[in-house]
Amino acid sequence: MSTLLITGGAGFIGANFVAYWRRSRPADRIVILDALTYAGNFDSVAPLCDDHTCKFIRGDICDAAAVQALFRKYDFDVVAHFAAESHVDRSIYASQVFTRTNVQGTHVLLDAALTAWKSSFDGRRFHHISTDEVFGSLGPDATPWTELSRYDPKSPYAASKAASDFLVRSYAHTHGLPVTITNCSNNYGPYQFPEKLIPLMILNAVTGQKLPIYGDGGNIRDWLFVEDHCAAIALVLRQGRLGETYNIGGGRQIPNIEIVGLLCDEIDRRFAENQSMPARFPDCPAANGESTRALMTFVKDRPGHDRRYAICADKLAHELGFRADTNLADGLARTIDWYLANEAWWRRIQNGAHGDWIKLHYGVET
Ligand code: NAD
Ligand code: TYD
Repeated sequence: MSTLLITGGAGFIGANFVAYWRRSRPADRIVILDALTYAGNFDSVAPLCDDHTCKFIRGDICDAAAVQALFRKYDFDVVAHFAAESHVDRSIYASQVFTRTNVQGTHVLLDAALTAWKSSFDGRRFHHISTDEVFGSLGPDATPWTELSRYDPKSPYAASKAASDFLVRSYAHTHGLPVTITNCSNNYGPYQFPEKLIPLMILNAVTGQKLPIYGDGGNIRDWLFVEDHCAAIALVLRQGRLGETYNIGGGRQIPNIEIVGLLCDEIDRRFAENQSMPARFPDCPAANGESTRALMTFVKDRPGHDRRYAICADKLAHELGFRADTNLADGLARTIDWYLANEAWWRRIQNGAHGDWIKLHYGVET
């Protein structure tokens, strides 16, 4: 039996990971540490939590005294570090908090692990969840990034994640801290905060709001279904070589305009197949038999918008036998179904304070 500290466990990927780990290793003890920022949502993990096997603690990873106390109290075997400021658009408008959480917060956790584990690193592991955005932006014909590709972050978000990766590596090199790092591509799936492309488009579409496509819509992302990501992290936690970095990708590169089109078509199908949809969502064009694609709107481009991301995940495949196995069509269908079935979850977000930010930025007038 292991005891895991999962930071950011009330966020999108963290909450999916807590659920994944609870299913696959029910005897393990989990402590979730999450500040519940705008992106954190206790609703996402509440059904998984109790006071013994899965404990939720609201706290800030930058609070060194509190983090050290937690390490003394729980004797963690594993740290899975998800907590971060994660949205590129927000890092354009206000980036100081990205440095604080992503760099300083990671540093605090590394120090706490080092202090708590100093008598022996046996059986311990600090796993850092990072992003492919640290590599920058690829040209249309460039080969996908490997673990050896040069770091060239372009947004304040990506720069803060790159800095945190370097700190993690430095603690492995200097102190021998047992670390692993994964750099993954864009995730999508249940519980994603509706400021990111896919949930934003689903919710705008069903509520009849414009679908804001930045620039010419030709920017390419490599989409990874979140459950595949969780499975890959779990594998790296159990079998990944210490000190190593692994890329995780979905193996499906697609321009934004195409993925938004696929979502619209899938939503149209839901309306065609389910007679309750027009009554639930009367403002969606599909409620009147029109195509949801009519809501697609080109808007001013994001400053410094990375053109293309693509991941080479061969190392993970060759060393640990992992390949993401959810195809994009299935993953999108499951994601749409989840948002349709969990309206209360996203309505609470839209009606809360952060709904204003979403409306202001994605509402959309240009
Ligand atoms: P998210 O924004 O949905 O969740 C982040 C969580 O961290 C929230 O629950 C938030 O409350 C918590 N948090 C923020 N600041 C904190 C602090 N100071 N102390 C404690 N908790 C704090 O993010 P996500 O999409 O779930 O991403 C998780 C990790 O995966 C991040 O490290 C991110 O960089 C990385 N990542 C995400 C993607 C993606 O597509 N979402 C892709 C690659 C990498
Ligand atoms: P996003 O989900 O913010 O992830 P990231 O910037 O980390 O890749 O955006 C994914 C892509 O979708 C990115 O190219 C920006 C684009 N995008 C839009 O075109 N419109 C939007 O409203 C949003 C949020 C993103």
